[in-house]
Amino acid sequence: MEITKTLGEFIIEKQAQYPEATGELSSIFASLRLASKVVHRDINKAGLADINGAIGSENIQGEQQQKLDVYANEKFKAALAARGVVCGLASEEEDNYVRFDDQLNKKSKYVVLIDPVDGSSNIEVNVSVGTIFSVYKRVSPVGTPVTDADFLQKGRKQVAAGYVIYGSSTMLVYSTGCGVHGFTYDPSLGIFCLSHPDMKFPEDGNIYSVNEGRYIHFPTGVKKYIKYCQEEDLETNRPYTSRYIGSLVSDIHRNILKGGIFLYPSSSSYPDGKLRLLYEGNPMAFLTEQAGGRAISYAGQSILDMEPTELHQRTPFFAGSKNMIDKLEEFLANHE
Ligand code: AHG
Ligand code: MN
Ligand code: MN
Ligand code: MN
Repeated sequence: MEITKTLGEFIIEKQAQYPEATGELSSIFASLRLASKVVHRDINKAGLADINGAIGSENIQGEQQQKLDVYANEKFKAALAARGVVCGLASEEEDNYVRFDDQLNKKSKYVVLIDPVDGSSNIEVNVSVGTIFSVYKRVSPVGTPVTDADFLQKGRKQVAAGYVIYGSSTMLVYSTGCGVHGFTYDPSLGIFCLSHPDMKFPEDGNIYSVNEGRYIHFPTGVKKYIKYCQEEDLETNRPYTSRYIGSLVSDIHRNILKGGIFLYPSSSSYPDGKLRLLYEGNPMAFLTEQAGGRAISYAGQSILDMEPTELHQRTPFFAGSKNMIDKLEEFLANHE
């Protein structure tokens, strides 16, 4: 691969367009880059290192924590705490948010929320997983301890969001509100190189991603839409193709590149949906909208405009190509 722009150069170039930029956001990205390289290294030898399998504890979600969940959480937390640019961190693997109270960090104006390993049930079967991150400016006074309000912000207030996908190659994809840009990791050089500038969802697609095993428990509107995807109609390129990896990052990444819709509805097992709003729904919705797609939880409800009330709250999550979400929304609206 010819060496294009590195992630570090690209961010500095983009940030230089903001005279008030202090370099703190660039430092946050440097931390995220470093931690993702460490996790990349260990995921790629998961079968050999002792980081496969469960550790025998549950997280606050009641999920069996995988060794890599905890390991990756520690790596991202340490990398973000080390540079004095983050005053607080919330994570799927932390019961409550973590205050970074040391002299340097407490003066920072940013908080970060992460899903350290997304799709962790796929780790030991060698299927791609990801990391998801979301960055906000704090709303409480700089220099004071962070509060709930700093984390419970609407997704539309994010200053940056992104994911790392540990797949056939490792990529870091992010947006600071000026489009979505993808960087592929070259382990031989230890750098992320710009490989997918300005990623855009095709307006239409013919891939739908849903765990059809839960079909009988889905709301009627979702059932009707899934049947619509399966009907024969050459004009609208149906029946669509069903593709479901079981890692949100991987399913969304494929759909941005090829066009498609991802659905995680509410069901009897997850009355409010399974995905967590703050560190899965909001960052992936931010990227989706920046890539020209749409992300909703109900008819007429954009994910990014939802008012969070709890750190680990869940939400129904539908994201993808604009015209496919528009069509789903019709079914949801007609079958409340
Ligand atoms: P996590 O591994 O961070 O807990 O997230 C798993 C999520 C998401 O990645 C994926 O889309 C979804 O769980 C899959 O859920 P099902 O296995 O119920 O389909
Ligand atoms: Mn989990
Ligand atoms: Mn996840
Ligand atoms: Mn996770």
